[in-house]
Amino acid sequence: MVSAEDKLAKRILARKKHDKLKKKDKLLWNFQNKIILFTLILFILGVVTWTLLWLFIVQAENKDALYFVGLFRVANIEFLPEYRQKESKEFLSMAQTVQHVMNLVYTTSSFSKFYKQSTVSEVSNNNNGGLLIHFWIVFVVPQAKGQVLCEDCVAAVLKDSIQTSIINRTSVGSLQGLAVDMDSIVLSAGLRSDYWSTTGTGTNCMYDLYADHLHKHFPLDMRATSEGTICYFKLIASVGHLIHLSIVSLQIEADNCITDSLTIYDSLMPIKDKILYRACEPPDSLVSLVSTNNLMLVIFKAAQVKEHKEFHGYFEVITQEKCGKAIMTKEKTGYEGRITSPYYPSYYPPKCLCAWNFQTPQKSLGIALKFHNYTISEKNIKGCERGWWKINERMYCGYYVDHQTVFHITSSAVSVELQCSSKVSEKPLLVEYGSYNISQLVPEWNCNSSLAIQDNLLACNGVRDCENGKDEQNCTHSIPCTNHMFKCRNNICIRKQYARCDGTVDCVDGSDESSCSGSNTEEGEWPWQVSLHFGGAAYCGASVISKEWLVSAAHCFQGSKLADPRAWRAHLGMQMQGRAKFVSAVRRVIVHEYYNSQNYDYDIALLQLSTPWPDTMSHLIQPICLPPSSHKARSGDKCWITGWGQKQEADDEGSAVLQKAEVEIIDQTLCHSTYGIITARMFCAGLSSGKRDGCKGDSGGPLSCQSNGDGKWFLTGIVSWGYGCGRPNFPGVYTRVSNFAPWIHKYVPSVL
Ligand code: ARG
Repeated sequence: MVSAEDKLAKRILARKKHDKLKKKDKLLWNFQNKIILFTLILFILGVVTWTLLWLFIVQAENKDALYFVGLFRVANIEFLPEYRQKESKEFLSMAQTVQHVMNLVYTTSSFSKFYKQSTVSEVSNNNNGGLLIHFWIVFVVPQAKGQVLCEDCVAAVLKDSIQTSIINRTSVGSLQGLAVDMDSIVLSAGLRSDYWSTTGTGTNCMYDLYADHLHKHFPLDMRATSEGTICYFKLIASVGHLIHLSIVSLQIEADNCITDSLTIYDSLMPIKDKILYRACEPPDSLVSLVSTNNLMLVIFKAAQVKEHKEFHGYFEVITQEKCGKAIMTKEKTGYEGRITSPYYPSYYPPKCLCAWNFQTPQKSLGIALKFHNYTISEKNIKGCERGWWKINERMYCGYYVDHQTVFHITSSAVSVELQCSSKVSEKPLLVEYGSYNISQLVPEWNCNSSLAIQDNLLACNGVRDCENGKDEQNCTHSIPCTNHMFKCRNNICIRKQYARCDGTVDCVDGSDESSCSGSNTEEGEWPWQVSLHFGGAAYCGASVISKEWLVSAAHCFQGSKLADPRAWRAHLGMQMQGRAKFVSAVRRVIVHEYYNSQNYDYDIALLQLSTPWPDTMSHLIQPICLPPSSHKARSGDKCWITGWGQKQEADDEGSAVLQKAEVEIIDQTLCHSTYGIITARMFCAGLSSGKRDGCKGDSGGPLSCQSNGDGKWFLTGIVSWGYGCGRPNFPGVYTRVSNFAPWIHKYVPSVL
C-alpha cells in the first residue's frame, strides 16, 4: 500500500528526476548542435579552400594563344569599294556577318573549348568574282594541349561545315548561309605579331596600295629604323589583272630569316601556304614575281640596325598571259626558237598550264628540246614537287640543275605540256627547240635502237642508252641519272638491275657495291625491332614499346585491306627473316587520327598484340624507351636505323638478314630546303653523301638513339619516307616520336 506523503515524496522525487533528465537532454542537445555546426564550418572551409586551390591551379596552368590566318572566297556577294575602309559601316557589317558564321562553326566543333574568336582583317575583290575574306582565328589552349590544334585540323573544321551539293558539281557550298568556295580555303598557323599588326594597332608601317594603271611603276621603298622594322605592303590591282613585283635591291643580314627577311605572299595576309617567294639574304640577281590573283603582300622584316638595311622595288599591274602555242618547225634541222615559262624572265607563279604543239614538216624529223639549267625525268608514283611535264602522253618531273640538258622526241608531232604545281614561285625557264633528223642521229651513234631510245633519244642525259656508251661519250658535264638508272662514281649510269648489292662489281670503279648502306646485325642486337608481315610477307617494321604494344608508321596501314588487323602478324626477336622467336597476331591497329596520306604528316600508328610476348624471351625481346615531349633531336646526333627493307633503291626485294646503318640527324632548315614539305612532325637523317638510308620495307621501323648519359636507347624516329633511297643530298624522313608522347600515353598508359 502507498500513503499520501509517500505519494508527495514520490512526486517530488519524480520531478527532480525529470528536471535532471531535462538538464542532461539540454546538455546533450547543445553538444550535438556544436558538432553539427563544427562540421558545417569545416565543410564550408573545405569547399572554399578547394575552390580557391582549383582556381589557382587552373589559373597557374600555362595557356597559349594560337593564331591561325586564312582566307576564303564568298561567291555570291558583290564587292563594294567601301569594304576597303575598315571603319566603314559596310566593312563592319560584313566582318560581323562572317565572324558570326565562324563563331558558329568553331563553337560547335570539337575545338569549342579552346576557341576564342575570329576576326575579319580584309574584305577584297578578286579575279574569281565575289569577295575574298581574309581572317584570323584565335584559340587559347593549355600548353600541354597545343598540338591538338594542327593547321589541317582547324581547316578541316571549316571545310567540313560547308555543305556542297553533288548535283551542282561546283566547289561552292553553303557555310551557314554564306556561299563559300571550298577550293579557295587556305589556312595556316600565323604569328602573334602579325595578328596584332594586321588586326589592330601593332604597327605603324602598313601600306594599302591600290593600282589600276597598267604597266605604271609604283615604287616600294623601305629603310629599316634603328629599333628594327616590320613593314607590310598590301598591293591590290584592279579586278582582272595581276601584280608584277620587282625586287631592285635588298639589303638584309643573311641569318636564315631569323631576324631579317623579305617575304612575298599571294594573298593579303601572311598565310604560309601562300608564300610566293622568301629572301633570307640579298638575292644574287634581280628577282621579279607575278601573283596568281589581283593581290599581293610584301613583308619586310629587319632587326635592330647596325649597318643599314633596306628594300627597294616596284610593282606594276599586268594582264594575264596566255602560255603555249602551236609551232611549226622549219625544214632545216637545228635549234630555231625558244619557249619559256609564263612571264619570263620573271619567276613563274605556282598555278599555270602551258601547252605547246610542235609539228615538223617531215615524218623523218623529230623535235629536240634543250632545257637551260633544268632537266626532266620520268615521273614516279610520288609525283612532282616542282611542276610536271607531259610530252606525248608521258609524264616527267622537272628539276633545276646547273647545266643544260637535251631531250629528243622521235616523232614529227609532239605535244609538250607544262603544269606548274609547286607551292612557291619557280625560277624562270628557258627551253630551245628545233628539229633533228631521226634517222641520222641513231646510226651516227652506232647504237642499236632499243625500245627505250625509240620514244625518247636522250643525249648527254647520264643514261647509257647505247650498249657501247657512245651516246654519253662526249658529254662535258656530270648529269643526274634517270629513275631506273644507278650512277657510278665516275658519272656513268648503269641500269639499276645490275647495280644491286649482290656482291658483283658492275660499275668499273666498284661504286655500286661500295655504296651499299647497311651491314648485317647480330642476333639480339636490336631486341625492340619487329617485322610486320602482311598476308604472309614482310611489309613494314615496328618497335616494341611494352609487353603488348608496338609503334609503327601510319602509312603501312593505309587502305581498308592494310588497316585490317587480322591480315597482320608481328615477328619479334628475329634477325633472319623466317626465324622469329615469337610471332603474334594483331588485335588492334590505331592509326593517328591526323595522319595525312598526301604528305605523310603524323605518320605514326600503334599496334596491340593479340598475345603479349613471354618473359622467357626477354633476352631477345625488349622494349625501347619513348622519348619525352621535351626531348629534342639535335642535328649532328648519330643514331641507328634498322630493317629488312631493300638494301638499295634498285633492288626489288628486301634483305633476309636485319640490316643496320648509322645515320646523322640533319638540321631542320636544311631538311626543309631539300624537300619543302617537311612538317614539325618530321625530321631528316642520313649522310650528305646519301648511302646511309632506309628504303622500301623499312617503314615503320625504328630510328634508335642511345643516350650519352645512361646508355638507354630511345625511339627518336620512325622510318617514314624519302626521295628514292640513299641518294646524295636526299636524306630519309622520319616521324618525330617525341611529339607523340601524349598521344601514345593515351592508348598505352603503362609506358612513359
Ligand atoms: N615508305 C617506305 C616504306 O614503305 C620507306 C621509305 C624510306 N625511304 C628512305 N629513303 N628513307 O618502306
